[in-house]
Amino acid sequence: MTRAHREQNRKSWNEATRAHNSHKGDQAAFLQRKGTTTLFPEERALLGPVKGKSLLHLQCNSGQDSLSLVKLGARVTGVDISDEAVRFATQLSADAGLPATFVRRDVIDYLARPKQKFDVVFASYGVVGWLDALAPWARGIARALQPGGAFVYVDFHPAAWVFDEKGQPAYPYRSAGKVVDTVGVGDYVAKSGPGLVPWGFESGVRAFTNPHQTAQFAWGLSDILQSLLDAGLVLERFDEYPYANGCAIFGEMTMDAKRRFHLAPHYPQVPLMFGLRARHP
Ligand SMILES: C[S@@+](CC[C@H](N)C(=O)[O-])C[C@H]1O[C@@H](n2cnc3c(N)ncnc32)[C@H](O)[C@@H]1O
Repeated sequence: MTRAHREQNRKSWNEATRAHNSHKGDQAAFLQRKGTTTLFPEERALLGPVKGKSLLHLQCNSGQDSLSLVKLGARVTGVDISDEAVRFATQLSADAGLPATFVRRDVIDYLARPKQKFDVVFASYGVVGWLDALAPWARGIARALQPGGAFVYVDFHPAAWVFDEKGQPAYPYRSAGKVVDTVGVGDYVAKSGPGLVPWGFESGVRAFTNPHQTAQFAWGLSDILQSLLDAGLVLERFDEYPYANGCAIFGEMTMDAKRRFHLAPHYPQVPLMFGLRARHP
């Protein structure tokens, strides 16, 4: 990944993260309450019990999921390239009284020389689309895992990213490391409302426009799976889901009681998420 791409994405995420958190109210109070979590059942099921485990959370953004994992008893290190996300996560950890370590670093740089080995590496909801190469990512994940440790990954489905907001074909399924979109990170939290902020959405920043463009990449399922297999990980579980957790990724979607967003019937009915668990032998 070129330095220029990383810089663009860092700036764009800094700007968007401020807007996203402006809608989320008192997150420390939410996290302090007994039994609350920002995790969805799909990643909970793939992760299994995390109590007492060391866990590396890649591209952790503002740390809400990282701290939800701390509540479940994991010892968490979160890594993200965004200064604003890591600043916010560090403050949220202190305010909520949930200790975790947050590192501002490019994920590929971090994984080239991880400081320790982990029982679990976790990433979710908006991950590989920011990376221009998967081999160093997957090899780094294997490097960061203890023998017998697991990588758990849940993300929006590559088949869904072929379409634009109106459900029209607009992007390649895979781009072999070439940039497919440069649009700045948008305010998907505002679009998703209670889907992402079930404890009380606030209007916060209105009509957000991001002044910083991004560099985004398209990876197919085979790119993702083969990179993990090439890195020596053993695929243990793979699922596809016909809904998107928390996030209205297309223009017209309806949310159900489990905060799953569904496509309107006139959209192509492609899977909207996938999840996997791969183990270090
Ligand atoms: C959609 S968010 C992921 C959401 C996250 N799983 C959560 O718990 O909120 C994508 C994140 O990837 C981060 N990111 C993008 N490129 C990165 C890179 N090269 N290294 C580390 N983090 C990166 C962004 O700063 C952003 O926080």
